[in-house]
Amino acid sequence: MIDIHAHLIPSVDDGPTNLQDALMLCRAAVADGITHAICTPHILPGRFNNTKQTLLQSFELFKHQLQAADIHLTLGIAAEVHMDIRILELIEEQEIPYLGTQANTGHRYMLLELPDAQIPVGAISFVQRLLDKNICPVIVHPERNRSVFTNPAKIRPFIEAGCQLQITAASLLGQFGPAIENAAWLLIESSSVKAVASDCHNTGGRRPRMADAKAMIMQRYGIEAAIALTHTGPAELCAQ
Ligand SMILES: [Fe+2]
Repeated sequence: MIDIHAHLIPSVDDGPTNLQDALMLCRAAVADGITHAICTPHILPGRFNNTKQTLLQSFELFKHQLQAADIHLTLGIAAEVHMDIRILELIEEQEIPYLGTQANTGHRYMLLELPDAQIPVGAISFVQRLLDKNICPVIVHPERNRSVFTNPAKIRPFIEAGCQLQITAASLLGQFGPAIENAAWLLIESSSVKAVASDCHNTGGRRPRMADAKAMIMQRYGIEAAIALTHTGPAELCAQ
């Protein structure tokens, strides 16, 4: 499986705090059946002041440490970018690491996180500004946004604007409660989801749970849907 959303690099956000924990998390990802993972540290000015430059440094070091530990997980680097007006500056400065490139439009894919509580006023025009800059937002875990899990139709304008959606595996397993679980399955049923990802942070409560989610998708919708959401869809989002 290809995991396009994972907090694996130590000491750059609220993921692992040290190398030992980060390596343990990577081993857990491999055990879960993940062969490729994109490291996606948070970028949120004022809280997680990461930039492309700092992240690339941490990423290169971590890749070597992973290799030295003989863990067979292929890593890539991008970021989980919080919806915040200050990220427009980072985009101008080319300080955002993107996922892949959309084949037919040349748009760069960027993981975009909405606030948990609501959909901010102006969110659609913010997304439009990104699209105008040839950036295609991949909205991460929309099912965990309160406005969306209470009324899943609220995500529709983002899909219509051209955004892609990524659901968190553990949401499908009920880890965040029944409302989020229902919303996650509803979005999958409506075929508006491109990828299921782990969004793993640690080996405890936020461990990678993609294998269980894939098995459940397979049970409900068959092998093709399971592969599309955990392999081919994610591969498309990180194709260069
Ligand atoms: Fe995340």
